[in-house]
This record gives sequence, structure tokens and C-alpha cells, in this order.
Amino acid sequence: MSLKEQINFDRLPVHIAIIMDGNGRWALQRGEDRIYGHQKGVEAVRTVIEGATELGIKYITLYAFSTENWNRPWNEVEALMELMVHSLTEETDSLVKNNNILKVMGDIERLSPAVRQSLDETLKRTSVCKGMTLVVALSYSSRWEMVKVVKDIAHKAISGEIDPDNIDYGIIEEHLTTKGIPDPELLVRTSGELRISNFLLWQIAYSELYFTETLWPDFGKEELYKAIIDYQKRERRFGKTSEQVHKNES
Ligand code: FPP
Repeated sequence: MSLKEQINFDRLPVHIAIIMDGNGRWALQRGEDRIYGHQKGVEAVRTVIEGATELGIKYITLYAFSTENWNRPWNEVEALMELMVHSLTEETDSLVKNNNILKVMGDIERLSPAVRQSLDETLKRTSVCKGMTLVVALSYSSRWEMVKVVKDIAHKAISGEIDPDNIDYGIIEEHLTTKGIPDPELLVRTSGELRISNFLLWQIAYSELYFTETLWPDFGKEELYKAIIDYQKRERRFGKTSEQVHKNES
């Protein structure tokens, strides 16, 4: 049976988040520079979007550039920005054709006006689509997001719009950059690193974690299927006992 045939389409994760890691190592192993690895990483992005769309996944969130990535050598930062904008612009037609909605989350103010303008165009053109949502985390980190949430809620508390005693999970979620997007059931990280690296810390409270040694440029549809099959073998208890979970299913 092929990997695709092993997938239970009644139990697909609605939202898959991916930490795309290993572009640099993939390139260095081939005697190429890191930028070349990122270029190959974009091809993997394209393949995974296509694969997820075919399966009927509703949301994919990709960690494309973290707040901490601003500290990389400037030529790499510039090349990455250029590459992302270039690819998003180039891919706009196929995103629209695949009915993919693009969303961006992160500290967008830090991006150059040119980058923002080109992002805006893709955002606008895909906003009419109705299929899978592709969320690109750009200049994003979870701690940045949490600071923003706390500030926004504090301002509303001062103005009287929110009563601090009424702050609950729901109010916090309404202020997250992922507002309206369900939490990922599955978080994938490539390249063998066993870390979360400041990604979606609130949202992955109950996500299943899947780590693979595969470097991001080598991550394709088959790798995506493997992650989903592995996820489907897990028992998701959300703090309950196994007996409770099975009783609710019957
Ligand atoms: C991590 O590999 C990867 C990144 C920091 C960049 C990921 C970005 C892309 C693949 C481009 C995405 C483009 C779009 C359009 C969403 P690394 O450089 O940290 O690898 P290393 O750990 O081997 O050095």
C-alpha cells in the first residue's frame, strides 16, 4: 500500500504547522552556499503546499523567518527576504489556481516597504480564494506575539473595554495573530533538531509533535504523508484518561 493510501481521510489534521529547518546544512553538504539551500527550500514549500492542498488540509503554517533570524549575516537576511518576496510574487498565480488564501503573521513593520508592498499584492489577490489557507510566519516569534497580546489587552483594560477579571483563554486567543485559525493538531520540524524555537507556543499546547531527520529541501509529499500517518497513530487525550477518550468515541 502506498503511503498516501495509508492516510485516513476522515481523521486529517485540520492545521499543520511546520518548522522548516536544514536548508543551510543541505547546501553545505553539497559544497554550495546557504542561499542555494534556501532556494531549494522554496521548491519544497511549493511541493508541500501542493501535497497538502491535494489531501484537503485546511491550514498550513510555515515558519519562514523568525524574529531571531534578523541576527543572521545581513547578506543572508537580504537574500532570504528577496527570495520570499520573489517566490510569493511568482507563485501568486498558482496560489490563486489552487484556491489558496495567503496570510502573513509577524512583525511586518520590520520588513522594507518594497517587501510589504509585494506581500500586500499577493495577500489581496488570494483573499478571494476559498481553499487551503497558507500562513507564512515572517519576522515572527511567539514571545514577540505574546508581548503584543499583553500590550493590546492592557490598553483595552485601561480604556475600560476589557475588565481584567474577565480575561480568559478566549480573550487571549482573540488577540493572537492566529485569531480565527484553529490550533495546529500537528507540528512538524525537519532536520533532526528537537526544539520549538519560539514558534506558536500558545497554539501548540496540545499539538502532536513530529520530528524528522530529513532536511527541509528534501521534504516532499511522501514526507508529509509519513508525518500525517504518524499523527493518526497517536491518541490525543487533552489531559483526560485513555478510557475517557474511548468512551467519548463510542
Ligand atoms: C532554516 O534553515 C530555514 C530558514 C531560516 C528559512 C526558511 C525559508 C524558506 C524555505 C523560504 C520560504 C519561502 C516562502 C515563500 C514561504 P537553516 O538556514 O536554519 O538551516 P541550517 O539549520 O541547516 O543552517
